[in-house]
Amino acid sequence: MAAWLQLCGVARRFGAIAALKGIDLALDADEMLVVLGPTGAGKTTCANLMMRFWDPVSGAVKLGGHDIRDFKIDELRERIGLVSQDTYLFNDSIRENIRLGRLDASDKEIEEASRQANAHDFVASFPDGYDTMVGERGMQLSGGQRQRISIARALLKNAPVLVLDEATSHLDAVNERQVRQALELLMEGRTTLVIAHRLSTIRHADLIVVLDNGRAVEQGDHHQLLERHGLYSQLVSTQLVGVVGGNHHVEQQEDHEHRPAYGPEHLPGIPGTSGHGHRH
Ligand SMILES: Nc1ncnc2c1ncn2[C@@H]1O[C@H](COP(=O)(O)OP(=O)(O)O)[C@@H](O)[C@H]1O
Ligand SMILES: [Mg+2]
Repeated sequence: MAAWLQLCGVARRFGAIAALKGIDLALDADEMLVVLGPTGAGKTTCANLMMRFWDPVSGAVKLGGHDIRDFKIDELRERIGLVSQDTYLFNDSIRENIRLGRLDASDKEIEEASRQANAHDFVASFPDGYDTMVGERGMQLSGGQRQRISIARALLKNAPVLVLDEATSHLDAVNERQVRQALELLMEGRTTLVIAHRLSTIRHADLIVVLDNGRAVEQGDHHQLLERHGLYSQLVSTQLVGVVGGNHHVEQQEDHEHRPAYGPEHLPGIPGTSGHGHRH
C-alpha cells in the first residue's frame, strides 16, 4: 500500500451540520501536510475519516490511489498511526496500554518508545512503574501524560502514515518541546497529516491547508499564504503562529485540567471561534 494520500471531494454531515463541504487535498508519500483552522472547522473530521471511524457522505479518501474503503479496516488502521486530542486508556497497565501500538513489542521496546515520547520519567516515578494500572478504574493520568502514552504507542507502531490531531495540545511548553523532537523523528520518511494547535511544526510543512467552516479556504506554503492576507495571516498575526520561525515560544503554565490559555478558539473576529463546547 503506497502512502500517498488524497481527499477527493470529501463531504461529511452530522445530522444538519455539514462538517466538511467538499475537500480536495493531495499529499505525496513522505510529505507533511499541516491543517489549521478555528474550532469546528472540520479538522478532526478529516482525521477520523482517514481512520474510517466514519465514512464520507460523498467523495473518497484514497491511499496509494485506492479508495480506503477497498482495504480491510484493520489493514488500513495498521498503516496509520493516530495521535489524537483525546487518548483512550484501557483498564490495564501502562505497559499494555503502550503495547497497543504493536502487540508483539517487547518490554524493552515499550520502554524505548516511552523514553522517546518523554513519558518514561513520569512512568518510572510511579511506585508500580510500567505496571501501574490506568483507565477508568486505575490511576488518573493528566492530559499531557495520556498524550505522551499515545505518542509512545505511535512510535512503537511505526506506521507509514501518521495523523497527529493536536497531538501536543495538552502539553506544557517544556514537555511540548521535548515531545516535538520525538514527533519530528517520528515524521521523518512518513506521510504525515498534522492538525496543528500550536504551529511550531509548520515551518517543516510541505503544504499548509486552512479549513474554515468545512471548506479548505487557503492552501500553500507559509510564504504564499502570508501573501494572501487571509485567515492564515490572521492566525499568524495573532501570535498563534508566532513560533513559525522557532525563535520564540508562547509559554504556558502546566495545566492538566483546563484548556490551554490560547488557541484558535480564542481568536477574535474569526467565524466559528467563539469557543463553544468543551472539546476542540
Ligand atoms: N460525532 C459528531 N456528531 C455531531 N457533530 C459532530 C461530530 N463530530 C464533529 N461534529 C461537528 O462537525 C463540525 C466539525 O467538527 P470537528 O471536525 O471536530 O472540528 P475541528 O476539529 O476543526 O474543531 C463541528 O460543527 C462539530 O460540532
Ligand atoms: Mg478537532
